[in-house]
Amino acid sequence: MAISKVGIIGTGTMGLGVAQVCASAGHDVIAVKATPGPVDKAKDTVVKGLAKIVERGKMDAATRDAIISRMTFSSEENAVADCDLVIESIIEDLETKKALFRRLDQVCRADTLLTTNTSTLSVTAMMAVCKKRDRVAGLHFFNPAPVMKLVEIIHGFETSDETLEKLNVFCKDINKDPVIVQDTTGFIVNRLLVPYMLNAIRMLERGTGTIEDIDHAMKSGAAHPMGPFELADYIGLDVVEAMSMNIYMDVRHEHHAPPHTLTRLVQLGYLGRKTGQGFYDYSAKPPVQNPQLLRPVI
Ligand code: 3HC
Repeated sequence: MAISKVGIIGTGTMGLGVAQVCASAGHDVIAVKATPGPVDKAKDTVVKGLAKIVERGKMDAATRDAIISRMTFSSEENAVADCDLVIESIIEDLETKKALFRRLDQVCRADTLLTTNTSTLSVTAMMAVCKKRDRVAGLHFFNPAPVMKLVEIIHGFETSDETLEKLNVFCKDINKDPVIVQDTTGFIVNRLLVPYMLNAIRMLERGTGTIEDIDHAMKSGAAHPMGPFELADYIGLDVVEAMSMNIYMDVRHEHHAPPHTLTRLVQLGYLGRKTGQGFYDYSAKPPVQNPQLLRPVI
């Protein structure tokens, strides 16, 4: 059976981005706000994002209206019960995610595919709390979800070939470029990208170059769209630190542990673009490297 109705749990940046991608491809979407608070804010965010695309002449108003008409917003988790596919995109906390999977396993149809958009947590650990494990997998999207083509389809320990194939077809259907990955911490992209960002931070700590120089070098010398510090600020320094800790706890090699400067910035509440301060100071136009990082962070 083809996937028609998609349930998204979690209406943060990733959840709403994925919801928009699915609705844009013609799927009916129900987006569930996982934490208390007004659901209208989630809908406003999508409407405003689409309005910008229309303003820039990249989408017509009829297409925007059709996308919005396919999206329903709810605060009731059980609203996803009759979906063909559920994609959870809630807080990166394994116990919270396991509790959610336990509930989804009970309320959803037996043939509903249950997936997680986790960046570094174990899909198999979420699968383990479910009775019907063959329909559990990972669907890892990248930020910004409407732009980035890749989706990592994560093969958990008991994910069936049928589930993987349905997810593969679904990803192509929503104009994404999937790759099937075994369930290892960080999968492919974050397992390579996180150490890369950590190495850049250590390079800064050693005084190899400034933030701007290191970013410039990687954009100009390796054709990356963003340098490692711009990317870390874009992802969120709290998220980068959490991914680093998850990989470190798995492999127990200090190379993967969060560097001192990253931990200090997170402690200060300098979380990157979302707080206006990180490796860069976003109150300046254009952003400048954070002047406090021109001397060693202790
Ligand atoms: N939503 C929708 N569209 C967006 C968008 C968003 N949030 N951000 C940018 N876009 C679109 C723009 O509308 C524009 O589209 P157009 O060409 O049709 O007009 C296009 O993307 C390019 O945007 P801009 O011109 O504004 O800006 P840039 O050319 O600088 O591109 C970028 C911005 C796409 C973010 C680019 O810098 C990039 O690709 N950066 C790297 C991002 C990356 O590596 N993401 C992965 C992070 S790791 C991750 O997500 C894993 C997770 O587990 C942590």
